[in-house]
Amino acid sequence: MSRKTDVVILGMGYIGLPTAALLTESKLFVHGVDIDPKIVSTINKGRIHIAEPGLEQAISKAVAGGYLKASLFPIEANTYLIVVPTPFKENNEPDISFVEAATRSIIPLLKNNDLFIIESTSPVGTTDKMMELIYDERPELVNKIFMAYCPERVLPGNVMQELICNDRVIGGINQASTDRAISFYQKFVKGGLHSTTAKTAEMCKLVENSSRDVQIAFANELSLICHKSGIDVWELIELANKHPRVNILFPACGVGGHCIAVDPYFILSDYNKEAKLIKTARQVNNFKPLWCVERINNQRLEFKIEKGAEAKIAFMGLAFKPNIDDLRGSPAVKIIHAVLNGEQSKSHFIVEPNIDRHPDYKLTSYEEATQKADILVFLVAHDEFMTFGHAKEKIILDFCGVLSK
Ligand SMILES: NC(=O)c1ccc[n+]([C@@H]2O[C@H](COP(=O)([O-])OP(=O)(O)OC[C@H]3O[C@@H](n4cnc5c(N)ncnc54)[C@H](O)[C@@H]3O)[C@@H](O)[C@H]2O)c1
Repeated sequence: MSRKTDVVILGMGYIGLPTAALLTESKLFVHGVDIDPKIVSTINKGRIHIAEPGLEQAISKAVAGGYLKASLFPIEANTYLIVVPTPFKENNEPDISFVEAATRSIIPLLKNNDLFIIESTSPVGTTDKMMELIYDERPELVNKIFMAYCPERVLPGNVMQELICNDRVIGGINQASTDRAISFYQKFVKGGLHSTTAKTAEMCKLVENSSRDVQIAFANELSLICHKSGIDVWELIELANKHPRVNILFPACGVGGHCIAVDPYFILSDYNKEAKLIKTARQVNNFKPLWCVERINNQRLEFKIEKGAEAKIAFMGLAFKPNIDDLRGSPAVKIIHAVLNGEQSKSHFIVEPNIDRHPDYKLTSYEEATQKADILVFLVAHDEFMTFGHAKEKIILDFCGVLSK
């Protein structure tokens, strides 16, 4: 690198790598750190290890132009960005050990006037904890560096656009830190930059996803009520939404992925007594796949009693939401796993048009599965399934509204 590094980004994943690319487009020199040697070597070849439209071209240009270099270790810079994973542990407690390790790795490099920003989704108080960690080790830096929290809101598949255009919430440990972080994001963000405190910014991210979880739980609860009362939940919600101030979401077979089904636990771990609605929403959304399993098993039993033979079942969709290939925390996968008890026989067809293969299950084409199965279970509302014409001889369990949309 021909010039001093401007920014060190710790974590070269779905968020850190596109952020690195955009910073280099603003002519900033970026040093990208990851603990995975394969990721580091891929980036240094100008290639990428994740799927994101427009990213490979940007990284290749940044590396070739000398603006981006990846490494296993941080170096001295003016700005440090923490973009490492924040999963939860088995007991649903947040695991901030990655944020802590990344912070520790740069403590020896910090100097007066540096800017330290956490972007990882984090429990409230994490920025303050990292501040204490830094000041404990480097007391001479108290009030001499700037620290802020700025969460991410991007949608995978459109990250390169959204990183630039989305509004951002930026909260420093003090006003000077907020102002300094805002001037950093002004270099590449065109969306609004909203200043607040670190704690409010941390809570803001958690609340955004918890709000979605609660709204989905309401829709999922309606689907149970409607099934019992013999009302079509899809028609009901469409009619209710004709009210000018009502906007109910549609139900599905549960909630999955790495954000909406995870972030509410970051609130529950600290505010368990207060967060009654958020807790109940998690319970409702976690229960929905179990309810789907029970309905599939009942249908299977009914078929056997009536026809004297095992039903051939087609499961439509594995992804955690429509039209993506991401299976992380997918309720559809949980449902299939429970119904099949881990064993796929010749009479079980699994369809997922967005992936080529699955490590545990043989995939079947949509056409073959709809032709051969007796029971069609729609788990994810992929566009490919929307063309399904209702075949009278088939039994259909539609948990995602494919037939109603
Ligand atoms: N992916 C999204 O759509 C999204 C959206 C909003 C918020 N977030 C949040 O952003 C954060 C990062 O998410 P992601 O999807 O980019 O994760 P990711 O798993 O894709 O990438 C994180 C990277 O950090 C690396 N890493 C771990 N410890 C490290 C350390 N000490 N130093 C350097 N690198 C280290 C990992 O090897 C990994 O490559 C998480 O907190 C996530 O919840 C993600």
